[in-house]
Amino acid sequence: MNKETELMLIKTALEYRKHSYSPYSHFKVGAALLGKNGRVFGGCNIENAGYSSTNCAERTAFFKAVSEGTREFEAIAIVGGAGEEPSELCAPCGVCRQVMAEFCKADEFSIIMAVNEENYEVHTLAELLPYGFGPANLDT
Ligand code: THU
Repeated sequence: MNKETELMLIKTALEYRKHSYSPYSHFKVGAALLGKNGRVFGGCNIENAGYSSTNCAERTAFFKAVSEGTREFEAIAIVGGAGEEPSELCAPCGVCRQVMAEFCKADEFSIIMAVNEENYEVHTLAELLPYGFGPANLDT
């Protein structure tokens, strides 16, 4: 993936972070998911008074994409933090990594964890979810 695409995804994730519904944690997260078809799906975290009903930004983006017919993905950018602007990298939670593993090739899918367009890291899903359990494990 080229740098221009990385920056576009970070910018989009920062835009979607503005929609975060997080009245309980005040931790605002945005994500931007790039499909292999070139489509970009944004997401934010959506909290709930029944705390476990909360949906992370990454899963919001994935579920939007899959529900619109996109199932193959290149990369996701994630930005998160409690302040007005993010100040540290935000890593995806375990549940979101598992959702990524359902749809993405672990050694090909890029996860961009960003503070902003100047400060970010790119890792593969394989790096963040070694020995993952995925659809291939159920093939008989
Ligand atoms: N959260 C995300 O949306 N994505 C992450 O990668 C980490 C955590 C949300 C869930 C909850 O709304 C808040 O951040 C605090 O955990």
